[in-house]
Amino acid sequence: YILLLISLSACTPKNKHYVIGVSQCSEDIWRDKLNDELSISSFSNENVDIRFASADDNDQRQIEQINHFIDEGVDLLIASPNQMHTISSAIDRAYAKGIPVILFDRKTDSRNYTAFIGADNYVIGKVMGEYVGVSLKGKGNVLEITGLESSSPAVERHRGFCDALNSFPSIKLIGSLHGDWTKESGSYLMDSLLKKRKDIDCVFGQNDRMAMGARMAARKLGFDKNIIYIGVDGLPTSDGGLHNVASHELSASYIYPTRGDLVMQLAMNILKKKPFKKDNYLKSTIVTPENAHAMLMQVDEINHQRARLIELHGKVDQYF
Ligand code: AHR
Repeated sequence: YILLLISLSACTPKNKHYVIGVSQCSEDIWRDKLNDELSISSFSNENVDIRFASADDNDQRQIEQINHFIDEGVDLLIASPNQMHTISSAIDRAYAKGIPVILFDRKTDSRNYTAFIGADNYVIGKVMGEYVGVSLKGKGNVLEITGLESSSPAVERHRGFCDALNSFPSIKLIGSLHGDWTKESGSYLMDSLLKKRKDIDCVFGQNDRMAMGARMAARKLGFDKNIIYIGVDGLPTSDGGLHNVASHELSASYIYPTRGDLVMQLAMNILKKKPFKKDNYLKSTIVTPENAHAMLMQVDEINHQRARLIELHGKVDQYF
C-alpha cells in the first residue's frame, strides 16, 4: 500500500520533469545576459532541464535547431526568430504538435504561438526619435542604422522612429541603412556614408553596438564634428550601453529588457497549466547621462546577488 502511494505520487504533476528548448537567433552580449538569467531562474526549479541553441543569424540553422528540439520531444519551446517570415514553418510545426511556444524579443508573421514576451519596439523607436528631435532642437540631419532588415525589432523601431521624427519638420532622415545588429555593420555603413557626405548631426543605431561601431568609424576617419550617437540595449556590462552613456560615448540608449526571470515564470505557468497572458510587454526606460550613473549603481547590487547564485550552483553551459 505504501509503495503504491509512493509510485502514485511520483506520477503527480508536482514531480513532472520538464525539458525546455531555447532557440536563440544569434549570439551576442544581450543574449548572453538573457541565457544567464534563464539558467539562473531554472536553478530554483529542480524539475527543469533547459537546453540552448544559437543559430548565429542563420535562418536555416534556426529551423533545423527548432526541428531538433521538436524531435527530441521538448515540453516547451522558447524562441527568438531571426526574421519575421523565415522561421514560421518550424514554429508552426512545434505548435501543431502541441508544444507550447513562447516567442521572446522577436516575432514571426504567424499567429501560432502560445505567448509573446518582450519590449514594445515601436515605443522604443518613438522615444528615441523624440529624444533626437529635442536634442537637435528640431533641426538637423539624422542617419539611422537598422538591425537585420526583416527582424521584427528592426521594423518596429524604424516605424516608431519615423513617426516621432514626423513631428520635427526640419529634421531630415538622410538615410536608413540596413545593418545586422553587429558593431562591424555599424562601422562599415558609417565609413561608407562619411566618404560620400559629412553633414550628419545624429546617428541612431538601432542597438548600442551599431551606434558604437559608427562612432569608431567616424573617429578613425578623423571626423571630429559633434555628432550625437544614440543606441538601444543599455546593457550593464563593461562594454554595454549603460557604461557608454555614463562615459558620454553615446548620448542616450534605451534599456532593452531581457528579464529571463519573467520568461521562465511564464514558461512555468504554461507548463503547470496556471493562468497566463498571451502578449506580455515589458516596461523599460531611456538612459541618458542624467540617470546612467544611478542605474549603474543599481546594477552593481543585482550583479552581486547574481554572482552569489552562480557561485552556489555553478554556471550552466548547454549550448550546442
Ligand atoms: O532583437 C533585438 C536585438 O537583438 C537587440 O536589440 C540586439 O542587441 C540583439 O542582438
